[in-house]
Amino acid sequence: MSWPSLVIGEIEVETPIIQGGMGVGISLSGLASAVSLAGGIGVIAAAAIGLEAQDVVDLERADEEILTKEIKKAKEAVGDRPIGVNIMVAVTKYEEKVKVAIEAGADLIISGAGLPMTLPEIAEGKNVCLVPIVSSARAAEVILKRWWGKYRRLPDAFILEGPLAGGHLGFKEDELENPPDVFKLLEELLHVTEKWRIKAGYKIPVVVAGGIYRGWEIKKALDMGAAGVQMATRFVATQECDAARSFKEFYVKAEKEDVIIIKSPVGMPARALRNKFIEKMSRGETVPVRCPYNCLKPCNPQKVPYCIAEALIKAKRGDIENGLVFCGEKVYEVDGIYTVPQVFDQLFQEYTS
Ligand SMILES: Cc1cc2nc3c(=O)[nH]c(=O)nc-3n(C[C@H](O)[C@H](O)[C@H](O)COP(=O)(O)O)c2cc1C
Repeated sequence: MSWPSLVIGEIEVETPIIQGGMGVGISLSGLASAVSLAGGIGVIAAAAIGLEAQDVVDLERADEEILTKEIKKAKEAVGDRPIGVNIMVAVTKYEEKVKVAIEAGADLIISGAGLPMTLPEIAEGKNVCLVPIVSSARAAEVILKRWWGKYRRLPDAFILEGPLAGGHLGFKEDELENPPDVFKLLEELLHVTEKWRIKAGYKIPVVVAGGIYRGWEIKKALDMGAAGVQMATRFVATQECDAARSFKEFYVKAEKEDVIIIKSPVGMPARALRNKFIEKMSRGETVPVRCPYNCLKPCNPQKVPYCIAEALIKAKRGDIENGLVFCGEKVYEVDGIYTVPQVFDQLFQEYTS
């Protein structure tokens, strides 16, 4: 028995696993290239990637420089294999960042945190797969109607991100109190893609994300008709992940009750690990914000209690008590730090068990 391959547009990889993009430096070329070399699709996240530069004065420029550098580095490492780039619709200069990523050699542009309504226009004439992230069949329909009506183009795939995912979530706080099952959401989305297969003659692959941690969960998703899965939390605890060792060890130590939903300063709910920083913020403390760059469109630096990019980069660099540690719900399953090929082997054993 072997993995079924994952086909997205002209891309085909032997393992149906996409590594979820993780912003503010968690998935850079190190993790992304290791995942692509292991047979999946590795993804670099663009959010505030410029903070990797030394002495950032102009984040927009630094974002473009580091994004280009990381994509080129990953592409060099993986040869013919694909590299995806996650660019949230909510980042400032979204359009420019998509263009920079394509220019640097991205094979897929993966965009959530908003609906990427104009993505086909931005990428027009370029050989790149366009993959929106959605949290419901309804959101997928909105994109499909717009892309088909305006551009006669369909997404090359959808990533369906359920409520157990890490980082910012596409669900309202009250929805998260009684979260819908991602497999139920998958059923609804597959119904929509089937309708569009009949209408437009192309079956859009659906990739499931959010709380997919074990190989048997991958099997369930594929048996239901998904083309693959996207996983992030499990790839954080790998040697190749670009976060600090203490960030990964914090994942290993995490228990179920350490995982909480916070209201991010940019308004969306987000999943994170309880620590000193979160306790302080929930007591109403604030951290003065001196924001020279406004990296996310919904952020108002005058009003937020702390700078989310600063909090995330602190944790990524290893100050896990004073920074913000995003995670997926299944973080309590992480039991050690492995190499990416070891994770692929474990997943395969679980898949075939
Ligand atoms: C630390 C962390 C950072 C993340 N950052 C981003 C991001 O920048 N953009 C994005 O679209 N999704 C982001 N995500 C979501 C993942 O890409 C992924 O879809 C989701 O976490 C999958 O669920 P899992 O973690 O249970 O595997 C992040 C997730 C984590 C854990």
